[in-house]
Amino acid sequence: MRKLSCLFILFTWLFLPAYSQSKNKTTLTSIDAYHYQVKKESVYTKAAVACAHPLASEVGAYVMQKGGNAFDAAIATQLALAVVYPGAGNIGGGGFLIARKKDGKLLGLDYREQAPAKASRDMYLDGAGNAQTQLSQNGRLAAGVPGTVAGLFATLPYAKLSFTQLIQPAIQLAENGFVITEKEATNLNKSQEAFIQYNSVIPVFVKSVPWKAGDTLVQKELANTLKRIQANGAKGFYEGETADLIVAEMKKANGIITKEDLAAYTVKKRIPLEFDYRGYHIAGFPPPSSGGIILWQVMKMIESYPMSSYGFQSTQATQLMVEAERRAYADRAKHMGDPDFFKVPVDSLVSKYYIAQRMHTFTPGKATPSSNIPKSSFPESEETTHISIYDKEGNMVSITTTLNGSYGSKTVVGGAGFLLNNEMDDFSIKPGVPNMYGAVGGEANAIAPGKRMLSSMCPVLVTKNNKPYLVAGTPGGTTIPTSVFQTLVNMIDFTMTPADAVNKPKFHHQWLPDEVYIEKGFPETTKQEMIKMGYHFTDRAAIGRTEVICTQGNRISVAADIRGDDSVAGF
Ligand code: DON
Repeated sequence: MRKLSCLFILFTWLFLPAYSQSKNKTTLTSIDAYHYQVKKESVYTKAAVACAHPLASEVGAYVMQKGGNAFDAAIATQLALAVVYPGAGNIGGGGFLIARKKDGKLLGLDYREQAPAKASRDMYLDGAGNAQTQLSQNGRLAAGVPGTVAGLFATLPYAKLSFTQLIQPAIQLAENGFVITEKEATNLNKSQEAFIQYNSVIPVFVKSVPWKAGDTLVQKELANTLKRIQANGAKGFYEGETADLIVAEMKKANGIITKEDLAAYTVKKRIPLEFDYRGYHIAGFPPPSSGGIILWQVMKMIESYPMSSYGFQSTQATQLMVEAERRAYADRAKHMGDPDFFKVPVDSLVSKYYIAQRMHTFTPGKATPSSNIPKSSFPESEETTHISIYDKEGNMVSITTTLNGSYGSKTVVGGAGFLLNNEMDDFSIKPGVPNMYGAVGGEANAIAPGKRMLSSMCPVLVTKNNKPYLVAGTPGGTTIPTSVFQTLVNMIDFTMTPADAVNKPKFHHQWLPDEVYIEKGFPETTKQEMIKMGYHFTDRAAIGRTEVICTQGNRISVAADIRGDDSVAGF
């Protein structure tokens, strides 16, 4: 029965006006939301997308095949992810987009969530001054003002197709449903209790029997919200019925986002950070992300060492990289926050002098305890998702977008069908109290009305000889910059293929706690040798879900991380 009804679940999205008049109009493609496969790597010649879900990658590739460019794909893929990957794809969250246009000019769009006007520094402390992380991590009070929809409209001027066309696939997926993967079923099952606890109207994610692979997820309310955005633009989200529903949801309990907060939200253009590493030119995202600064610091800290002769995950290479990470993350805790509220000393943090001074205490063969990393001062003072896109014109687009935790705050806006983020937990809710990723902070990242919380997201672009080379990025909370770091080093120093660079085991150090986190498969000999040097190791689950597109002449090699349902598409 399902087979029959599903055989021709076809998307006739481009040219929506025609479609809405008659469902029998020309079918332009046949992405079958009931039968699809994950594709981990491929080589294309014209355009490619890699992201967390096969249907969303297909949507991005299709849009480019039909005359759109990488910016069109960026919009359509994010919207599709908001439907087929509800744990992280979103319209209730925020993100960063970094792009290199075909003319070589860089673009940085900051559509990070921001604290509502009623937010205050101590809003998550109880009467005794204790941090209430359950409030910053779950439910309505955990949500920052969402930025994603504004981000999509800020991307539109660089695209070729209409927004009406680009949102149609997402509407179709929400309205007609799609079958879920085993991983999605597992994730939904894990969150059932939380969905019941943090919602007054039971959302479609709750089921009386456990979800299983092959079940269909239909999201009618989300489809209606997407239609309002299709009809009214960004106002379809930030004003009118959707805004009313968000505010009504806030009022059901302890939420503080108001209509004024929503109407006032704006995307900020940020100037990407740029640096060189062994002949490659790297562009990363500036504050309010810590990602670009950390990446710049760690890469410069290791550049003068012969990494390729040390070898991949050799004791020498790993120790050096761990020590670089330790130092960069110590700086993250003290110096990084929203640059519109706190002066982030970017130039000092990445200066040659400072990098050399920071590595002065590095002792090969011996761990530097985190407590010995001096707090520097200067004169001037797991759920997120990544999309990599490249098109035949040479546009490179790298986007990391997030709800923060898996399914964000777990609160679905009643009647509007989308999850709200729990991004407020990315602020330092109390100096020294770790957030859900174990990151600590202080003044630089304290809560203030309208301020954007510090992020670790690190979408990157790499060029060589002024030509596109790599589009990359990953989710993973605080592990994001180190995953990107290791992916780049794997490709540049250890000459790995994109798939190996992404899929080989990773390790992570973030200053505090003073631990080296390792994935399954990390070499035992390196671990044992480093334990003798004074390092502590902790096993942990998957680090990151990295998507890489590598272009060399007409060859576009794409790799999607094996750690999830991540999938590539292109032509
Ligand atoms: O912006 C940040 O740094 C976090 N909200 C990212 C969260 C994340 O990557 C979760 N993914 N696994």
